[in-house]
Amino acid sequence: MQRITIAIDGFSSCGKSTLAKALAAKLGYSYVDTGAMYRAVTLYCMEHGIIKDGAFEELEVNKALDHIQLDFRYNSQTHASDMYLNGRNVEKEIRQMDVSNMVSPISKVHEVRKRMVALQRLMGKDKGVVMDGRDIGTNVFTDAELKIFMTADNDIRTQRRVDELKAKGIKVSVDDVRKNLMERDYEDSHRKENPLTQAPDAIVLDNSDLTREEQMDFVLKLVMELKLPEQSV
Ligand code: DC
Repeated sequence: MQRITIAIDGFSSCGKSTLAKALAAKLGYSYVDTGAMYRAVTLYCMEHGIIKDGAFEELEVNKALDHIQLDFRYNSQTHASDMYLNGRNVEKEIRQMDVSNMVSPISKVHEVRKRMVALQRLMGKDKGVVMDGRDIGTNVFTDAELKIFMTADNDIRTQRRVDELKAKGIKVSVDDVRKNLMERDYEDSHRKENPLTQAPDAIVLDNSDLTREEQMDFVLKLVMELKLPEQSV
């Protein structure tokens, strides 16, 4: 079957990456977690004193970008790709609350977005990719053959994030997680450049009451029903 681009956008912690990862594995596609890229840039800025007391100079962030190299590498133990920052596995660090609290402001920086989007387009240029984020269907791959906009109830999202972090050995309070999710949703949907919004041609998936299998069935059905133009050779 013709390889396509699948864009999955939506609010924080509504299960985008879980679904995207499983879908990519099922279809034999690659998976790109674009949020991890913005998180890795944020981590770099924290570790290099560019973010101080929750504030930063945009110019300093722009300069730092020349020293940041990002790539995903397959982890045979977890059967997933881990985020590497300058050759170091940062998969755990980028999920910590201090990074979560600064990632939305950093992802608003024009030069950060420009670089990340260029990298994402490169990663997905050959199709056969499932990419999740906030602006994949509306900006990175506006021509994606399938666009999903995911959402879920706030309490359910909070609990899922708490469980996910606990499973990774990261201690958090439910209140802190909820506050972070609400603030990020607001900031991500109200920023000037490429805010989170539903693409007009995206299909909404509210997974509040759906199991992982039901979500997978829902999307696979959409993939099967796609009417693709004849491929030119
Ligand atoms: O998917 P996530 O929660 O790990 O994303 C972290 C942050 O990165 C999110 O709050 C906003 C930013 N982001 C973005 O601006 N554009 C994307 N395509 C993906 C994430």
